[in-house]
Amino acid sequence: LRNRQPILAIDGPAGAGKSTVTRQVAERLNLLFLDTGAMYRAVTWLVLESGIDIEDEPAVAELVHQCQIELVPQKDPLGILINGRDVTAEIRSSQVTANVSAIAAQPVVRQCLVEQQQAYGRTGGVVAEGRDIGTYVFPDAELKIFLTASVKERSQRRQLELQQKGLADISLEQIEQEIAERDHKDSTRSIAPLRKAPDAIEIQTDGLTIEQVTEQIIRLYHQKTSHL
Ligand code: DC
Repeated sequence: LRNRQPILAIDGPAGAGKSTVTRQVAERLNLLFLDTGAMYRAVTWLVLESGIDIEDEPAVAELVHQCQIELVPQKDPLGILINGRDVTAEIRSSQVTANVSAIAAQPVVRQCLVEQQQAYGRTGGVVAEGRDIGTYVFPDAELKIFLTASVKERSQRRQLELQQKGLADISLEQIEQEIAERDHKDSTRSIAPLRKAPDAIEIQTDGLTIEQVTEQIIRLYHQKTSHL
């Protein structure tokens, strides 16, 4: 007999459409959306805000141990508070994006945030999105998805997103370079690197719509959980 509701893990590189897909899957299946990238971003925002050096690991460790992160699921995008302050918009800034890999590579930061993520998962009923969910945070998740897309496709999606926000001055080449750089950092770091869990199902999303990917994941979820 299981003592928790199912857990769905969605991992993959930056820009594969994870956030949008995960939000829709969470809504449709009535699961809690655990955006772990937003947690790493919130800590990065706090470190930048506090003025300490992001490479000063002991100082970062102290800050992360004392901080309190809250997720606000009813907002779109998912709301996030750190030490009571709403940083939902701030964590998407290019400054946070440029520094988050350095923060996410620090063992103490990961340990602290993974503990909080696992606490959210204790009762299940969660869809968690990140880089190390299926491999490390929830290795016994009922369904693991690895979402990918080519660098070209991911860059085009990102450019469209930026244009919609009125930020059209960044070239496709620059975006491609940033995405490739972040992929490299995220998959080569020594602790919890981005990689597909052996039992994860890979979905290559080039040319697929958000709706198609969402439908596919929901179908797989029902297949995997119908007999539980
Ligand atoms: O998914 P995102 O772009 O919001 O993630 C921000 C950064 O956080 C990304 O560069 C990798 C890191 N991250 C991580 O190391 N582990 C996770 N589970 C989620 C994100």
